[in-house]
This record gives sequence, C-alpha cells and structure tokens, in this order.
Amino acid sequence: MMTSMDHTEIEGTLEDQNDRELEQIEIELLLEGIHRFYGYDFRNYALPSLRRRIWHYVHAEGLSTISALQGKVLHDRECFERLVHNLSIPVTEMFRDPNLFLTFRENVVPLLRTYPYIRIWHAGCSTGEEVYSMAILLYEEGLYDKARIYATDMNSRSLQQAKEGVFDIKRMKQYTKNYLEAGGTRSFSEYYTAKYNSVIFQPFLKKNMIFAEHNLATDRSFNEFNVIFCRNVMIYFNDELRNHVHGLFHESLNHFGILVLGAKESIHFTDYSESYETLDRAEKIYRKIK
Ligand SMILES: C[S@@+](CC[C@H](N)C(=O)[O-])C[C@H]1O[C@@H](n2cnc3c(N)ncnc32)[C@H](O)[C@@H]1O
Repeated sequence: MMTSMDHTEIEGTLEDQNDRELEQIEIELLLEGIHRFYGYDFRNYALPSLRRRIWHYVHAEGLSTISALQGKVLHDRECFERLVHNLSIPVTEMFRDPNLFLTFRENVVPLLRTYPYIRIWHAGCSTGEEVYSMAILLYEEGLYDKARIYATDMNSRSLQQAKEGVFDIKRMKQYTKNYLEAGGTRSFSEYYTAKYNSVIFQPFLKKNMIFAEHNLATDRSFNEFNVIFCRNVMIYFNDELRNHVHGLFHESLNHFGILVLGAKESIHFTDYSESYETLDRAEKIYRKIK
C-alpha cells in the first residue's frame, strides 16, 4: 500500500524530471538560436560542463532562467560576446604540463631539424601562453627562423590578448618553474620586460606568429601543417564534435605530420586512430601515416 510519504517522493521525482526536461529544452533552444543568429555552434559541446557554464552566466547576468538568457543574448550582441568568453574557458599557462614540452624538445625537434620549413598550428590557443612557449623552445633549438606559428581560437578577446603578448607578472614564478622543467636552457627573464604589474614578451618572439579567429566546430582547414597542437580544447566537446575536429586535423596535416594532444586526451575511439602511429604514449604525440 502506498503511504503519503511515497506520494510525496514520487511527486518530487516527477517534478525533478520535468525540471530536467525543461532545462534540456531551454539549453537546446539557446544553442540553436545562437547557431542560427550568430553562427557559433555549441550544440555538440559536452553537456555537463556546458550546463554549469550556462547557469553560471545566467546568474552573472542577474537572470533566473535560461530562456531569459536566450532573449537577452539574441537581442544584445555584447551579452552574446560575454557568453562566448564565458563558454570558452580560456585557462592556460606557459609551458603548461612541462613534461610535454620536454618530450617535444627531445623527440620531435630532431625530426623538425630535417625539414626545410616548419608550419605549426596551435588550435584553441587561448591567450597565447602556449604559443609563446613554442616560440621560445624553437628559438633555443635554432629552428624559429624557419618556423611559422599559426595561433587560432574562436574567442576574439583571448586572441587580442595573445597578440599583445602582455601577461600578469604574478604568474612568472610558476612559468619560470615550468620553463626549467620543460628543458629551458637560459634564464627565463631574458624573454620579457617587466612593467608595473605586467610583463611584455620580446618582440622578436612574435616575428613568425600569425593570429586568426578560427572556430573548430564550423570553420574549415586553411593550410597544411607539419605540427598541430590541440590541448585542453576537445575535452569540452562530445564524441561527434571531437571526431569532426580530428577529421579537420587529419586533413590539415601533411604526410608524417605530428599531432600533439597532451596526456589527458587520445586519438583512440575516433575514426582516425588507425591513421597515426604513436611517437609518445604518455604525452599523446602522434604521427600521421595514412
Ligand atoms: C582551456 S583553453 C586551452 C588553451 C591551451 N591550448 C592550453 O592547453 O593551455 C581552451 C581554448 O579552446 C578554445 N575553444 C573552445 N571551443 C573552440 C572552438 N570551437 N574553436 C576554436 N577554439 C575553441 C577556447 O576559446 C579556449 O581558449
């Protein structure tokens, strides 16, 4: 026999289910609206983190529902731009995961030495710390002059910061530690000048960098590369979008081109797992073979 307690619990569960269903509809409508009106496609981002980010932004805008956010985003471009910034998670650091840069220096640089020129793409470069790290590494290995580093992101605000090459002085202690662990051969402070609370990196490091807006979900291949770096970007995508982006990378790498994903990600369980051989198992560095 059902007690009144059971009824309350069932009603509670039904209410939760309705809330979840409504939330799902509101998220889908918001993403559909953004895609149709602004051309940005978040529809295949992994739901748990997307959901958290959307709610965080709903509250940051002083709203209480996702539908209200939809109205505001569609009628106010600045609100949309703030949302893109919020969804893009621009967290990064110089020589992030130093062991990856050390492995790259030891195992990939000898291959790059044999090339007449080197084209590198940092896809999802955020505010540029990864790109300046690569420029320093190539400079120390005597390869920078024959390199072109293409740095792209969908977030124009982050890209602007990347172009300026100005970073918070408070982070230099951590970056110096990362640089040394990554096999840096000089004094890290040689590469920047401090001014008030910021540092500006030496202009010669920017010489061969090209920054451009590029969205991995909607834009096409734009060049052929010897190396592609894409770290901490596809972790926010669902399997379908991840597979799509791997297709884009496969198309954009030349034969024996190198794909660098970093320890947390993998080419396995994508349609392209057979197209690469592994150069470093721990740091997920692959070489295209077919
Ligand atoms: C966590 S940061 C990673 C930065 C750097 N690669 C690193 O590992 O430190 C993720 C970056 O991916 C970018 N991103 C997310 N979705 C993207 C997309 N569809 N196209 C291009 N960039 C995207 C974000 O704007 C953000 O700057």
